[in-house]
Amino acid sequence: MPTPAPYDAVADWYETEFLTRDPSSDGHPLGLGHLLDDLLGPGTGPCLEIGCGTGVHADRVRALGWTPFGLDLSHGMLRHAHTRGRLPVVCGDAARLPVASVVLLAAVAVMVHTDMPDYPRVLREVARVLRPGGVFVHIGVHPCFCGGFADRSDPDAILVRPGYLDGAWTRKSWTAQGVRDKVGATHLPLPALLGAFVDAGLRLERFAESGSPTPIVFAVRAVRARR
Ligand SMILES: C[S@@+](CC[C@H](N)C(=O)[O-])C[C@H]1O[C@@H](n2cnc3c(N)ncnc32)[C@H](O)[C@@H]1O
Repeated sequence: MPTPAPYDAVADWYETEFLTRDPSSDGHPLGLGHLLDDLLGPGTGPCLEIGCGTGVHADRVRALGWTPFGLDLSHGMLRHAHTRGRLPVVCGDAARLPVASVVLLAAVAVMVHTDMPDYPRVLREVARVLRPGGVFVHIGVHPCFCGGFADRSDPDAILVRPGYLDGAWTRKSWTAQGVRDKVGATHLPLPALLGAFVDAGLRLERFAESGSPTPIVFAVRAVRARR
């Protein structure tokens, strides 16, 4: 049975409302381009964007010298990426990447891990397709201030409710303007998230946070360990 793609139902809203919410940002309401620049860095060759959605980060990856191609579960999201010519895409499940083993020098995953019920499995797939020394950049919801339990109604005083340790899927959210209340989200506490990189054979190299005054995003640069 095909894996359900909850983003099909919100793809048009994501492209025309969510992504355009803050025109001062660099194409994404969270303004994540600087993290890609810093953590991915310049390079050449194919770069797989896992959960590329509408393909909004492709230009940034391309500007670094890489050749982006995207994979996503949602035909609705990919339709926007394709019709706007943002990057070549394939519909598929990140838990079973349709990519040969040990072929890529770069892969990125931006704001996707909370959408995936088994992110550790996705990281094992990333490790499988990367060549030794290949780079993987993860940019995701900050595990410590995740919207399922962290209430950002007052940006100057984030209220962290119980829920951090639960690791549960939830649609609970402090806002009706985001993604979580529409498609739900999972959560991995910080040790589980970092441990999954290590268990997959990905060597943690650098970390970054983004968002002020309290971070919204936590990012990791990891490298496929030599076998
Ligand atoms: C919040 S959107 C992020 C899209 C894009 N990376 C961005 O930053 O705008 C999450 C994306 O992950 C995709 N996704 C969720 N589970 C997936 C899976 N198992 N395999 C591939 N893509 C998946 C969704 O369809 C959706 O497009």
